Amino acid sequence: MINAQIKTDIKKDRFTYLRDSYDAEKCKNIKSFIDDFPNSKAEMNYGGSEKRIWMAHRYGNESIIDFVNFSNSLVSQLCKQSMAPLNVLAYSNLPVEITDNRLTKGRWHYDSFSKLFKVFLFVDDITENNGCMEIIPRTNGVFKLKKIFENNFLFHYRHIFNKQKRQAYDAISDSKIQKILDKGHKKKSLTGSQGDIVLVDTASLIHRASPCREGKRYLLACYYPKVI
Ligand SMILES: [Fe+2]
Repeated sequence: MINAQIKTDIKKDRFTYLRDSYDAEKCKNIKSFIDDFPNSKAEMNYGGSEKRIWMAHRYGNESIIDFVNFSNSLVSQLCKQSMAPLNVLAYSNLPVEITDNRLTKGRWHYDSFSKLFKVFLFVDDITENNGCMEIIPRTNGVFKLKKIFENNFLFHYRHIFNKQKRQAYDAISDSKIQKILDKGHKKKSLTGSQGDIVLVDTASLIHRASPCREGKRYLLACYYPKVI
């Protein structure tokens, strides 16, 4: 399943697709699991439009457990050692009020300064309208290193001298992102069909969930602490 090209793509681009790689019936089953899961037991964000079910593989849904096993085998092949996820997140997004800046702005971020690698299953079709993930390619490596030392991009110097070490990398303002785009970086929308899988090094690439405008987005994500 993991071939040399996939390894090369991840090493170079920090993400890659495995198209049409998971069974449609199992995807439908996962979709029902997310829909049927009580909101009261889920984490609800963005004014109730986002439903997050953490440790989703602990609720006995066989389609989710199957996917986690499949995902583990992919990542274990990449890392050449047996890997299990730190967490498994099943989530859905409904449309947000697009004029409400609190729901649509401030979404760009790096996930972490240490390693974090995610395997995403497109539980249903994902489009530019229903809240696809967007990444900014080539924001890893030297780019990220420079931004760590650029005052007030990820950190302000005051973060170093006081105890208020807010994780500035978890919310990079839209105006800072616009400057990066103005300098020639391009956003990439990770759209796809039900059953597609995307592997992303989310600690290395600036990314966000774009605001859902219509329809509903369903995703399953396995989180790993290591990446090639
Ligand atoms: Fe993220």
